[in-house]
Amino acid sequence: MDALDALQNRTASPRLTEPAPSEQDLQEIYKAGLRAPDHGMLRPWQFLVVRGEARTKLGQIFADNLNPGSEEEKAKMLNSPLRAPLIIVAVTEFREHPKVPAVEQVCATAAAVQNMSVAIHALGYSSIWRTGKAAFNAGIKEALGFKASDEIVGFLYVGTPTLAQRTVPENNVEDYVKVWS
Ligand SMILES: Cc1cc2nc3c(=O)[nH]c(=O)nc-3n(C[C@H](O)[C@H](O)[C@H](O)COP(=O)(O)O)c2cc1C
Repeated sequence: MDALDALQNRTASPRLTEPAPSEQDLQEIYKAGLRAPDHGMLRPWQFLVVRGEARTKLGQIFADNLNPGSEEEKAKMLNSPLRAPLIIVAVTEFREHPKVPAVEQVCATAAAVQNMSVAIHALGYSSIWRTGKAAFNAGIKEALGFKASDEIVGFLYVGTPTLAQRTVPENNVEDYVKVWS
């Protein structure tokens, strides 16, 4: 698939199943992520790959930290990592730098997530970028080995889509792009 095709036609897939990308494909996906622009080359990102039984542990961490209000809500939290065979947790570990504020370090991590999601699409798989309460919870960050002050930029759920690809939304370029003079 050529680069413009992948960039213009990627869509998110909320329903994902096995197979996850092969180890070889995953290496290509990680390399695409790691070529994101990064002011000061700070490498402020870390990516945790969660698959197999580790997804059940992640669901337990969600339920232990998010105070579910009912058994139904707890079950939803426990099961949420099982919505895909593999999850990439993208985290910004902020570095002190006189010219690179925190927001730019989140931007760099987000660009890496997007590079990965486009690479995933180009390789014939799909993904969905999710956040939700789990991304902003200090206990969850700490249980995953990060500091409360680090930022979970996204949980990228990855696998093979079970539904036909959604129609790519029409974008009217003039609505968003204007020549300023
Ligand atoms: C930072 C960020 C967080 C997101 N969090 C969620 C989320 O928690 N749940 C969700 O359904 N979609 C979330 N999305 C949106 C989906 O990833 C996806 O973009 C959306 O479903 C539209 O699909 P499309 O990417 O194919 O246009 C998030 C997107 C971004 C950039």
